[in-house]
Amino acid sequence: MIAHNKPTLGKQEQKAVSKVLESGYIIQGLEVEKFENELCEFLGLPERHAVALSSGTSALFMALWVLDAKNKTIAMPVYVCSALRNAVAMAQAKEVLIDNAMDSPNICLKQLKKSHADIAIVPHLFGLPNDIQDIVNIDVIEDCAQSLGALVGNKKTGIIGKAGIFSFYATKLMTSGGQGGMFVSKDKSLVDKVRDYREFDCRRDKKNRFNFQMTDVQASIGRVQLKQLPDFLERRQEIFTMYKELGLDLIESKSNTSVYYRAVIRVNNPLEVKEKLLKQSIKTIIPIEEWELLDNAPKYKNAYHLTQTTLSLPIYPSLANKDILNIFNQLNKAIK
Ligand SMILES: Cc1ncc(COP(=O)(O)O)c(C=O)c1O
Repeated sequence: MIAHNKPTLGKQEQKAVSKVLESGYIIQGLEVEKFENELCEFLGLPERHAVALSSGTSALFMALWVLDAKNKTIAMPVYVCSALRNAVAMAQAKEVLIDNAMDSPNICLKQLKKSHADIAIVPHLFGLPNDIQDIVNIDVIEDCAQSLGALVGNKKTGIIGKAGIFSFYATKLMTSGGQGGMFVSKDKSLVDKVRDYREFDCRRDKKNRFNFQMTDVQASIGRVQLKQLPDFLERRQEIFTMYKELGLDLIESKSNTSVYYRAVIRVNNPLEVKEKLLKQSIKTIIPIEEWELLDNAPKYKNAYHLTQTTLSLPIYPSLANKDILNIFNQLNKAIK
């Protein structure tokens, strides 16, 4: 079976984990600190501007919390996973759902600008960066769960808005051992507050905090993965280019520099094609199905249209060239 997505893990990760286990110190410590600072360096932020957390969702919650989101309006796309809604609910804020731009998985920036929301969560979905540089009247939280390494102009996604969040879930662009997340911001005062919130234990001031910590075991994997990220991204780009050169109709960004988290094709009958490919031992997914939209489909024409006309093909560093050709050939048969 060709998987739709899978992490790329090997001896280096095993070695790093063994070292942490042998040290006997496995909770949040020096590995976490190094991972945070290495991510800062990758993004072009000064040291101590990142806080490692237990997941992308907890990082989203922290971003909302630190921006005082309680009772405020939060604009976000209707075409997205439920993590955003969960974080907004946890922060006791009010969601304002917005359609995506035509033929793009990303939120419609025109509608967003007109929304009068206090805060916006803007995901760069499929690795396609949104140009949010001219949004000035809304605090933007960049959701970079799918866009680590993507650029808007010469800036990495995550450092353009007020705050950025990353996910290191197993099948993201890199993983910190299955789960993990990161909060980043240019604004050190926000970073310091998030860091303080994470240090929940033995605090005399009795303020509410929460255990959203990442362990050194996880961070040691994250550090090894981050070192390999440029190679991972290069291989993903190669695979995407191969699909393109074979003639597939892929969704891509016309400007800005993407990372190839997803290879999504336009197709008329995705459910049927998905079933046919599965019979040939190839797993694909509809990136967001109609039932997954955060509100009733007909109200959001562009989002609904994407749920009916897109299919996500396997793309990950360990995918072999022969598998790509097989996927292409089987796809051609399935579409006919
Ligand atoms: C766009 C987006 N935002 C947020 C998340 C949540 O990340 P996590 O699964 O690490 O909580 C995900 C991943 O599922 C995602 O794809």
